[in-house]
Amino acid sequence: MNQPIGVFDSGYGGLTILRELVQTLPQYDYVYLGDNARTPYGTRSFETVYLYTLECVRHLFDRGCRLVVLACNTASAKALRNIQQLDLPILAPGLDGPNRRVLGVIRPTTEVIGNYSKTGNVGILATRGTVTSESYVVEIEKFFPTLSVFQEACPMWVPLVENGEYDSPGADYFVKQHIDRLMGKSPAIDTILLACTHYPLLLNKIRQYAPANATILSQGGIVAASLADYLKRHPEIETQCSKHGQRSFLTTDSTEDFDRQATIFYGEAIRSEQLTL
Ligand code: DGL
Repeated sequence: MNQPIGVFDSGYGGLTILRELVQTLPQYDYVYLGDNARTPYGTRSFETVYLYTLECVRHLFDRGCRLVVLACNTASAKALRNIQQLDLPILAPGLDGPNRRVLGVIRPTTEVIGNYSKTGNVGILATRGTVTSESYVVEIEKFFPTLSVFQEACPMWVPLVENGEYDSPGADYFVKQHIDRLMGKSPAIDTILLACTHYPLLLNKIRQYAPANATILSQGGIVAASLADYLKRHPEIETQCSKHGQRSFLTTDSTEDFDRQATIFYGEAIRSEQLTL
């Protein structure tokens, strides 16, 4: 049976993560699920993000996935812990705990973020949902307790990206606005994390408005390195992941739109299948 690694996002953003996973770990099969019909998640309640995410994770399990990566910060912040603690033991019971796994993108990022900063001041750009969850602040404290963390919610950025406006002059206004606000919180910020998987599409504009010496971090490479390490440490899961180098793509909205847009995020042509949850 095909047992791909599931990669989930509210829309296209997770493709920026999938791209790096495929580059680092090309041997595995992957199935990507974008919940485009219900994006954005960043402005939705905890309960709604949890229910939507759980529904998608269940579907990926039904497709044979042993391992699902929530390639979405908002879902990682608002749904991951509940799914791991409450749902997995029921959905995927095993002798020594759940026999399927769900991982997020926040933990791997917070494990390394402090290594990039010289001033000890980092900025987090994210959706409102991720910012208000305080997940980054709480998790960074565990690994880098002396780091000062400044957050800025950028609610307009996901709609700009989802609507293909990331390169338009209109995007400049909102990119500049939030970078200025973030830097206004501490001019000593020298590391800026794009803590939303949609934001790498705005990288050129972010670079333009951020201080020239600031390090701008995208999560793709970090998550890929962390997954490679995870698979090494968990042979019981690794051996369950099929390895034919296959990729498939599911969307809860129109495949035509998905195929056109997703190609930009993923970097190569995509043929998706529509999914009704
Ligand atoms: N890509 C998602 C993230 O990383 C958020 C997109 C959304 O608001 O739906 O947070």
